[in-house]
Amino acid sequence: MRNVIHLEEIDSTNKYLKQLGFQNAAEGTTVIANRQTGGRGRMGKRFHSPDGGLYMSILLRPETIDASALLITTAAAAAVSRAIETMFNRQTKIKWVNDIYVDNRKVCGILAESVLSGDKTDFTVLGIGVNLYNTAPLPNDIKDIAGFVCDAPITDTEKEKFALLIYENFYNYYKHLEDKEFLEYYNQRQLLVDKEITVLQGGNARTAVALGIDDDFRLRILIDDNRETLSFGEVSIKL
Ligand code: BTN
Repeated sequence: MRNVIHLEEIDSTNKYLKQLGFQNAAEGTTVIANRQTGGRGRMGKRFHSPDGGLYMSILLRPETIDASALLITTAAAAAVSRAIETMFNRQTKIKWVNDIYVDNRKVCGILAESVLSGDKTDFTVLGIGVNLYNTAPLPNDIKDIAGFVCDAPITDTEKEKFALLIYENFYNYYKHLEDKEFLEYYNQRQLLVDKEITVLQGGNARTAVALGIDDDFRLRILIDDNRETLSFGEVSIKL
């Protein structure tokens, strides 16, 4: 990892790294915190971030416009999934687009935030939060959804090794992002495939069946006897 900044506590590693991005910090600069007091999730939600998790953000300066947030976040999901499987020997599933599940519980969330100048990406902050082990009761809103990768605490050295593995896995994909070499890996671990899902779009909730992922990482669904692809929007599933 390059220029790693370790923090005991911060409001949000994404927010912190964004400031460094504006100050011209180099690609690869990484911030890791032991806990966050204002962890950010997608769709303006907060991300519960107590001790026992890995909260890391990586600064990216993508050269091409094609290196879209979708490719970055799906590559990151494959990278984290691989790191969990290699290091902790747990089987993972990926819930499109980029949540990672172990034993039907969400153990990782990913949030990429891009700063644009004109129509070019100036930089992207890739934020990854992994629940490693439990240190406190979960808040009510996530207690039936969230889970943990490990049954017992791990050492700081192991946590550092895990962060490094995520970083290396991700960079191997990121170097040739347009090749999408992680597509097959990503596809094989889809949590939603063949399941009934709820598609939330523009305030509407519709029931559908997830069929798979296409070559552009869109979700293929069967809805009212028609095939459609989703490139954005939230989907949910009862597990
Ligand atoms: C989600 O599941 O909604 C995405 C959660 C992303 C959380 C990570 S933790 C490290 C980084 N800093 C943040 O404030 N958020 C991301």
